[in-house]
Amino acid sequence: MRILTVIGARPQIIKAAAISRAINTHFKDQITEIIVHTGQHYDENMSAIFFTEMGIPTANYNLSVGSGNHGVQTAKMIEGIESILLKERPDALLVYGDTNSTLAGALAATKIHIPVVHIEAGLRSYNKAMPEEINRITCDHCSTLLFSPTNQGIENLIKEGFSLSIHPKAHIDRPLVFKTGDIMYDNSLYFSSIANENNRLLKQLNLTPNSFILCTIHRDSNTDHPDPLNQIIRGILEIQRISNQTIVLPLHPRTRKKMTELLEADVVEELQKNPRIQVIDPAGFLDMISLESNCNLVITDSGGVQKEAFFFQKPCIILRDQTEWVEIVENGNALLVGSNEDKLIEAFHQLAHKNDFTYPPLFGNGHAAEDICRLMIEHL
Ligand code: UD1
Ligand code: UDP
Repeated sequence: MRILTVIGARPQIIKAAAISRAINTHFKDQITEIIVHTGQHYDENMSAIFFTEMGIPTANYNLSVGSGNHGVQTAKMIEGIESILLKERPDALLVYGDTNSTLAGALAATKIHIPVVHIEAGLRSYNKAMPEEINRITCDHCSTLLFSPTNQGIENLIKEGFSLSIHPKAHIDRPLVFKTGDIMYDNSLYFSSIANENNRLLKQLNLTPNSFILCTIHRDSNTDHPDPLNQIIRGILEIQRISNQTIVLPLHPRTRKKMTELLEADVVEELQKNPRIQVIDPAGFLDMISLESNCNLVITDSGGVQKEAFFFQKPCIILRDQTEWVEIVENGNALLVGSNEDKLIEAFHQLAHKNDFTYPPLFGNGHAAEDICRLMIEHL
């Protein structure tokens, strides 16, 4: 079977590592993978670093689409992916998550009748102002095989008319839906022992385990408007003051640009004179999981990072009003605070005083990628 994988943004490059590893280890004789990188992310530490350190095969094609408005960016991707699909004629196209690269892959393939396989199917925020929500819904409804990591994902799909009935041959009009667990859990387990062997970044930043807070911010609703961005950074400064802990902020390039444009003068001054807020470049995955597994609190608007906080048994403050990973909020591991400074500080106090966290196995058994490969072989 020839599978054409479309990736482009950081989280899906990271996700692709799990499937490539499973193919390489268990299904080499049955699956050949052709990788297309759209070029949505292109900085060294937003793309190349993951291929190198996670052993992802070099992309067979790179469309070098780069940044741009949604329409322009997605259109360029569709055009490029379609011509590769027409040339390669794979048995299926595989996409991850909910980015513009996911949408472009799904649309290009489905129009020329190439089955789409969607990993991370069924996740919903029920907020269509998020570009990702439009991407996910569209991709799921173009898909022939849908792999959902969670029970909630399956429930969301059923609400939208998908059926769980199993028949041998999947078809776009009779798609098959499976709950497989989360391939990011596979990755976190696999790479955490390697990451913790050297803790390179921890040493470089002079951090000791369980004495710092990790924060990431990149969601457009937080970064692209002055009010949410200033409220979040003010909240972080206050949490640093109250906790007297270092806060490490590996900064997405979008946020770095917007902080320069939108932060108020007093916030910039406070950030500059506070050496305990360590703003660093985006981290590689090994450094990132070393930070996640050694911090004592995560503050984030990232989908992936909130889940990894759970994997590494760290409480999490989510800088959003909704999450697709509702299980971790319902289980009391994370709190939603939007971009509100007061709620952020209140959540910090709440989590600092809570000591009855539990971490049930919500995300599978660490072998989701193998199950997905097996199901692709069985049903395509
Ligand atoms: C994208 C995804 C988002 C995902 C995130 C992961 C969409 C609609 N959004 O958001 O779902 O959570 O990736 O990180 O697909 N930039 C650089 N260098 C890079 C990449 C981006 O400087 O290598 C800057 C550019 O100024 C660009 C901005 O970041 O305009 C935003 O990049 P873009 O890919 O459009 O969206 P993300 O915010 O990264
Ligand atoms: N990540 C990383 N370095 C960073 C920030 C995040 O390697 O500096 C990883 C993180 O561990 C997770 C993934 O990127 O696996 C999440 O991607 P991101 O936050 O960009 O997007 P989202 O998950 O919100 O779509």
